[in-house]
Amino acid sequence: MTQTITVFRGDGIGPEITDAVLTILQEAKADLAFEIFDVGEAVYHKTGFFIPENGLESFRQNKILLKSPITTPIGKGFRSLNVTLRNQFDLWANIRPAKSNPCLDTLYKNIDIVTFRENTEDLYIGEEKKIDEDTVIAIKKITRTASQRIIRAAFEYCRRHHRKKCTCVHKANILKQTDGLFLSLFQEIAKDYPEIQANDLIVDNTCMQLVMHPQQFDVMVMPNLYGDIISDLTSGLIGGLGLLPSCNKGDEYAMYEAVHGSAPDIAGKGIANPTALLLSSCMMLDDIGQIKTAKTIRTALDQVFSKKQALTPDLGGQASTKEFVEAILQEIRR
Ligand code: NAI
Ligand code: MG
Repeated sequence: MTQTITVFRGDGIGPEITDAVLTILQEAKADLAFEIFDVGEAVYHKTGFFIPENGLESFRQNKILLKSPITTPIGKGFRSLNVTLRNQFDLWANIRPAKSNPCLDTLYKNIDIVTFRENTEDLYIGEEKKIDEDTVIAIKKITRTASQRIIRAAFEYCRRHHRKKCTCVHKANILKQTDGLFLSLFQEIAKDYPEIQANDLIVDNTCMQLVMHPQQFDVMVMPNLYGDIISDLTSGLIGGLGLLPSCNKGDEYAMYEAVHGSAPDIAGKGIANPTALLLSSCMMLDDIGQIKTAKTIRTALDQVFSKKQALTPDLGGQASTKEFVEAILQEIRR
């Protein structure tokens, strides 16, 4: 049955990469119908809303959203729209697979790290308070329920995908209560998965280890802030933000998006790499059972990468987004 999905075109490079991905999905004959909405800054200036109500309603109905990046103005009192979406639809797990592609020249080979980022709390609850002119504080919130579900999701993923190791990232030596709770729940839940090697690492050491010996990592689970930072780091290991897909999942809804932002520095230049959003759409196709179509797209992408003729500038090439997409379309037609 044709699956209807909601699509948000986003800010900056958002519309360029969305159009690229929709073109590819259609060529690959994905069995999808699209409800497409402009969202973000431009829409805000016209309507006073970042996301139109009918866009949210569409997501509520379809339960699946393919979303492009949205600009979050810094320091203007706006709550991040991404954080708002994650909370409103209780998208509690942010899953970010960083897999090096052997067809690309990347810093490292044989990287296959999946980050499970808790997506609803930690410092991202946005509770900041001014104490006096010179002092501001932010609340870091960690709850048993939210921690348990993300930790269990990481272990379940290991079991389903035959992954050998699960690493908990934290700073429990300093944040004894908050990260301490997260770590102790990890250790408790790990006992239910004796076949999976469980270890934990302090976040600063994790950064060094990821740069020096990234192949030691398999599945990683962590609170929100560390997940945000560590997953950008893992994208650097495999060739940059243009390549890293993600899924934000809850019990009812799922939102698929690139890990990167709206890239205002290259917006409108026609050189954005749509791969991260394209691979996010492949995660979506896998999840809704259109596995063959996802495979067709991934294979076409590998062909284009290995021929190295149509790479975008972030991958060391000179191709435009259009040329890159055209090369993928040709591979799909083959
Ligand atoms: P960014 O991820 O937009 O860009 C960082 C660097 O990576 C830039 O040099 C950019 O050109 C490059 N880059 C990112 N995606 C690329 C692609 N597909 N192809 C080629 N190069 C790419 O991060 P930045 O500049 O910190 O954030 C810009 C805006 O995006 C901010 O307003 C931020 O709040 C927002 N943002 C939104 C996200 C979302 O909607 N999920 C996630 C991250 C940031
Ligand atoms: Mg981020």
